[in-house]
Amino acid sequence: MADACFGIRGTARELPAELDRNFLIEPGDGRRFVLKVTPGVRDFEELDAQVAALELLARSELAGRVPAIVPAAGGEFLVRREMADGSEHWVRMVHYLEGLPLAHLSVRPTSLFEDIGGWLARLDLALADFDHPGARRRIPWDVRRMLELADSLDLVEDHDRRELVAAHLERFERLVAPRLTELASSVIHNDANDHNLLVDSRGAGGMRLSGVIDFGDMIHTVTVAEPAIAAAYLMLGREDPWPAASALIAGYHAVRPLSSVERGVLPDLISARLCASVLMSARSRVREPDNEYLLISEQPVWDLLEKLKMSDSDDGRRAVDTACSGVHSAQEIIAIRRRHLGHNLSVSYRAPLKIVRGQGQYLFDDHGRRYLDLVNNVCHVGHCHPHVVAAGQRQMAILNTNTRYLHDLLAEYVLRLTAAFPDPLSVCFLVCTGTEANDLALRLARAHTGRRDIIVIDHAYHGHSPSLVEISPYKCEGPGGEGLAPHAHKVSLPDPYRGPHRGKDAYRLYAAEVERAVEDIAAKGRRVGAFMAESLIGCGGQVVPPDGYLRGAYGAVRDAGGVCIADEVQVGFGRVGSHSWAFESQGVVPDIVTLGKPIGNGHPLAAVITTPEIAASFDTGMEYFNTFGGNPVSCAIGLAVLEVIERERLQARALEMGDRLLAGLREVQHRHDLVGDVRGLGLFIGVELVTDRESQAPAADEAADIIERLKDRGFLLSTDGPLHNVLKIKPPMVLGADDVDGFLTHLDEIVARVKT
Ligand SMILES: Cc1ncc(COP(=O)(O)O)c(C=O)c1O
Repeated sequence: MADACFGIRGTARELPAELDRNFLIEPGDGRRFVLKVTPGVRDFEELDAQVAALELLARSELAGRVPAIVPAAGGEFLVRREMADGSEHWVRMVHYLEGLPLAHLSVRPTSLFEDIGGWLARLDLALADFDHPGARRRIPWDVRRMLELADSLDLVEDHDRRELVAAHLERFERLVAPRLTELASSVIHNDANDHNLLVDSRGAGGMRLSGVIDFGDMIHTVTVAEPAIAAAYLMLGREDPWPAASALIAGYHAVRPLSSVERGVLPDLISARLCASVLMSARSRVREPDNEYLLISEQPVWDLLEKLKMSDSDDGRRAVDTACSGVHSAQEIIAIRRRHLGHNLSVSYRAPLKIVRGQGQYLFDDHGRRYLDLVNNVCHVGHCHPHVVAAGQRQMAILNTNTRYLHDLLAEYVLRLTAAFPDPLSVCFLVCTGTEANDLALRLARAHTGRRDIIVIDHAYHGHSPSLVEISPYKCEGPGGEGLAPHAHKVSLPDPYRGPHRGKDAYRLYAAEVERAVEDIAAKGRRVGAFMAESLIGCGGQVVPPDGYLRGAYGAVRDAGGVCIADEVQVGFGRVGSHSWAFESQGVVPDIVTLGKPIGNGHPLAAVITTPEIAASFDTGMEYFNTFGGNPVSCAIGLAVLEVIERERLQARALEMGDRLLAGLREVQHRHDLVGDVRGLGLFIGVELVTDRESQAPAADEAADIIERLKDRGFLLSTDGPLHNVLKIKPPMVLGADDVDGFLTHLDEIVARVKT
């Protein structure tokens, strides 16, 4: 027949197919064709529509990636043939499309799903203006006709399953059916299941979609059904189905942006397709009661329907929202950053994450994948806390000016904030960043003492302005640094695990170093002006100084007339659990305290709190004005943060969750030699990794590896410390017990597998 109709002679082998009979024809010259024989001649319009669409696509950018039609000897694409038994058929020939059906792939990277989404969008765009009477036909697989399938519900024997489908149908009727007319419609493929999607895994760019076959269900319907159908199939058999759908939708949306109505109905269209699948299968079972394959192939569809019903109905909406939230792929953003941002700004992870949404202790990437944020202490009361968001939004719509006008919120905020400090800390300056706060603290100290010399802790970081870089060993003694300023004097990091002094006298010996630094300054004919230290040390490696250290250090500095600055930018606002401020855990009261990061839960707000006496010394006649510091929006947000900390009892929670985490980490330490030290207070924790407990050889590569593996399992944290071997844990304070337990289980498994 291939020869007679199309002039192609070769070997023929029948291929599996549902309605048509398909034959692979190989002439032996490397070319391959598929001869398609459709029984009956009633479906001319339908076949003609397919042929016309494929013809159009063969002239589009998708040429070669959909089956190309081979004209018959007379130029026509459809040939009517009478068989020996008198039955009539339509016969056509297409080029065989190379590629492996997606269904045969066991490994399916997310990037492939994105590619599929983009591909289907290009297909829909290519068909956007195409129409044909044969595409405007009624088929049960038209998602618009979903409710018409309800009459097959009784064919589902199992009661629970019947209820399950009924529940999905009910949602469809309520939420989707009324909006169908608002949705864009066009001719679509309508059956992008994983047998019809072909993949090429040999290309340089990894796995790519090489083509789409089987246009047999092509119809004119709502266009958004295309990604919905493909998503439904990609989600099957997955523990967490939404990330797969989200990747596909992101790829689709980047090429053919989805309208808000389309986005709104997409999750329910996915369920609708699954319902159609099981109801059609129920119909088939009536015809073929002994076909066990039908039952087996249905199982993953039932599982997914169940999952979609059980899951938070917001999951789908969120997955779609996150997928549609940006139009730049991660790779594009990296390229843009490289071109337009300074290069000394690194991104986390070997394969950087594109984070598009935050909620509570979780972050979500552009594929809708959820991560537990264990490292961001800025979003103190949880990402996007509704009370904080509402406070900011409300005030932004009313007024945002500077502090030269009287404003209730400023008054209220400074009252609340200063009330949280012990006497005599009662005067505050509102600024915008931790750097500004520390810079101002230096000015206050200098104004008060008339001296510049300052003592700092080794490896400390206090900010990115010149005044702070030159006194931050972490910066000025690191790559690109110019060394400590002549007025800066450093003392050892008071690290009870790895530092020069350990054991019960360590606090005294570390404090004695401060005393010596005071003397060294005096020996140069000058006098110490200030001692600046974090009360728990972050960049130094999440170090908890030995009890009594700050008391000794503060004493030595004050005896010489200097002032003590506590940098609480990282550790304030109840993070340590036992107290509001980390300095309280050392039983001291500083002269100046600087606050940042958590104070505005992500809004740029920071503060300096000091004594009336020091503030008076700073009042030299030169005004201190900060354009944005203390504006009404910042004050509204700062107040809301304080309210949430109190209302949700977050300090107590930090203590409880911190203790749970520390206890669990100590068990991990007990089981694995890699964990050399576990330390922390509340939710400020460090886990130091060593390849050898005796020599304390740092396990930096292993730490980096663990961070990557934890990311793959949905946990975000980072490393710190002078030797880059400390896992830094400082999550939002809304962390829950399940979060802690899940993290510990995964960490334990990962540490067990890491080879040192
Ligand atoms: C202890 C400490 N102080 C000050 C700063 C500077 O804060 P910002 O980045 O808001 O200027 C940081 C920032 O990481 C910090 O960790």
